[in-house]
Amino acid sequence: MIDREGLCKRALEMRARAYVPYSHFAVGAALLCKDGSIYTGCNIENAAYTPSNCAERTAFFHAVGDGKREFAAIAIAGGNETAESLDYCAPCGVCRQVMREFCGASFEVILAKTQKDYRVFTLEELLPMGFGPENLEKKMLYKAD
Ligand code: THU
Repeated sequence: MIDREGLCKRALEMRARAYVPYSHFAVGAALLCKDGSIYTGCNIENAAYTPSNCAERTAFFHAVGDGKREFAAIAIAGGNETAESLDYCAPCGVCRQVMREFCGASFEVILAKTQKDYRVFTLEELLPMGFGPENLEKKMLYKAD
């Protein structure tokens, strides 16, 4: 049973650590591993813009760097750093692709406005017909007889 409210709370708290001097759009994420551990992340921007990293990928890369490979859910909370209330913040395409690398179709993506107000999507809903590791598995296209 996933503690979705608890995960949303961690994502909301992580917004405070976002480094967003350029967009002022602060995002926090909390990634639940199948072993029950949680890794958090925030977005980290850069004066050269393109090296910026989203909150979701910060959480994933921290977890994978710590030896985790199996994930159950991620909560995401984002909005202007001074906003008094948030809208649902959907993950960008690059982050969806990173989720696709490590997660199955039923991986939950939880978009949090508050600890109690959130929407839940599966990865399959957010990235249908995605390209993943299994697409690179060698396949015999034809057999010579
Ligand atoms: N951002 C995230 O961290 N996650 C999302 O789901 C959407 C966008 C960041 C990237 C950039 O630092 C800022 O939000 C504005 O796009």
